[in-house]
Amino acid sequence: MELYKKKNKPLLVTMALPYANGSIHLGHLVEAVIADVFVRAQKMTGRDTIYICADDTHGTPIQISAMKQNITPEQLISKAFDEHTRDYAIYGIGFDKYYTTNSEENRIWMEKIYGELQKNSMINKKTLQQFYCEHDKRFLPDRFVKGDCPKCGAQNQYGDNCEVCGASYNSEDIKNPKCSLCEKEPILKDSEHFFVDMKKEKDFLEKYLAQSDVIQDDIKVFVNNWASDLQERCISRDEPYFGFKIPDTKDKYFYVWLDAPVGYISSTQKYCDEKGIDVNKYWNENSDCEIVHIIGKDIVYFHALLWPVMLKNAKIKTPDSLFIHGFLTVEGEKMSKSRGTFILANDFAKKVNHSFAAQYLRFYFASKLTPTVSDLDFSMDEFINVINSTLVNNIGNFCNRTSTFLDRFFESVIPDAECDKEIERQSLEFTKKIIEFLLQRNFRAAIDEIRNLGSMANKYFQDEKPWELVKTDLERAKKVMATCANLIAVLGVNIKPIVPEIAKTLEEQFSENFVWDNANFNRRNKKIAPAKKLALPLEKEMLDGLYEG
Ligand code: MSP
Ligand code: ZN
Repeated sequence: MELYKKKNKPLLVTMALPYANGSIHLGHLVEAVIADVFVRAQKMTGRDTIYICADDTHGTPIQISAMKQNITPEQLISKAFDEHTRDYAIYGIGFDKYYTTNSEENRIWMEKIYGELQKNSMINKKTLQQFYCEHDKRFLPDRFVKGDCPKCGAQNQYGDNCEVCGASYNSEDIKNPKCSLCEKEPILKDSEHFFVDMKKEKDFLEKYLAQSDVIQDDIKVFVNNWASDLQERCISRDEPYFGFKIPDTKDKYFYVWLDAPVGYISSTQKYCDEKGIDVNKYWNENSDCEIVHIIGKDIVYFHALLWPVMLKNAKIKTPDSLFIHGFLTVEGEKMSKSRGTFILANDFAKKVNHSFAAQYLRFYFASKLTPTVSDLDFSMDEFINVINSTLVNNIGNFCNRTSTFLDRFFESVIPDAECDKEIERQSLEFTKKIIEFLLQRNFRAAIDEIRNLGSMANKYFQDEKPWELVKTDLERAKKVMATCANLIAVLGVNIKPIVPEIAKTLEEQFSENFVWDNANFNRRNKKIAPAKKLALPLEKEMLDGLYEG
């Protein structure tokens, strides 16, 4: 039976580049898990697939944060790089390349794309009045101006929107403006800025976004509204700034959101250079590669509008799909530092007192993920329940009782008997569905089917009663146990993209490196390693203190 259709086109998957001035938290992990599970499922089909990411290292917040810590921005981003790569590794996120946007490769690609935008008359210049702090000698971006809301008068609001009445406004309209760094009153000062003339690409964008796979249906209306009312986008920033200088200017820098997505290309370039591959394989305008960007719902504008415009003008391949996910909440509310629910990836792995804490979180997130932009929630009770009911008591239990039985009655050798054809047929059907759901990034549905497969296996063992058969009908006992042994391997193959470390126990037991083709029933008279507990339960006490700072 054919389990999956192998795609010959190469696949490039990226996730959004995390900012270098923050730590990896559970929200970032949601995205990393989506991308990683998807990539692993693809690689298991044998498809040529790479997973690329980088740190997003430029911008005012990073420059100011370094200044406050009395270190250079380069020092700051190098520390962040070490932390981020360490944290993702704990969760088994298997990047093929994790790079940085502060690289020579990125500068070169950025300048090339900008040059093409200029050539196509896509760049306009205009003089703007902006808040400037004479004490700090810098222009103040929105987040660095505070004041009273022009609508409701609430005090101490940021320069772009009011958290009390929800109004959004231009920072120039804020009352009693103050510099958020020194609290002094800023002045308004002229500065020349560069803009991308998005309107010129209205037709292109409308056509691009209408393609069925580019964005999910539940967010199309939202994005189409932007596309029908395109505004110029400012792409320059004044000194002091940490980023790339705009060519032929004295003191202008590319706004971080311009060179950040270019990081997808420059990081692919780095990967290719290290492997001796031509980067055109992936990004050439006529490449047959499929490019998928996995991003959160807060950064859709940049990816669905600005980025394709940049690529199209530079004659680079535009992404085949943006896969947009919702936000993670904790116990039903926005993650919050004061409630202790703003949980860092590294803290979670340290605080949850279980050797599979990180793998269990992958499984839990996956069990909640659908291909929509809806938010998802982390709840401690549900986490414990999902892990124990599916991984431990269903799959784990079946693997343990089967292996223990094989050890005891068959010296850990899979009996030399034909498997039960009906069970084989059913589990191949389950596996086909699981693969399909994983490749559609409908992980919740995939896990439902994994659970069904596990239940089917448990029921088979229970109904056949091999502990009686070994006494009454040894031939039948052999058949049942050969079937059960193969079922363990098939379960192992199916959970591998989601919890690769847990699947490893089974790979070692069977001395196999699981890919989808291993989801077969061909094991006969094969010596396997003795039983090892697959997944130990998650107890409530193990999560004590998770929400305490
Ligand atoms: N640096 C930009 C992305 C540049 S991509 C060219 C950025 N960085 S971020 O660190 O703020 O966010 C990185 C990703 O994490 C984004 O896709 C964002 O949506 C996602 N998430 C941040 N908080 C999240 C949750 N609470 N839940 C789910 N995803 C979240 O944006
Ligand atoms: Zn100031």
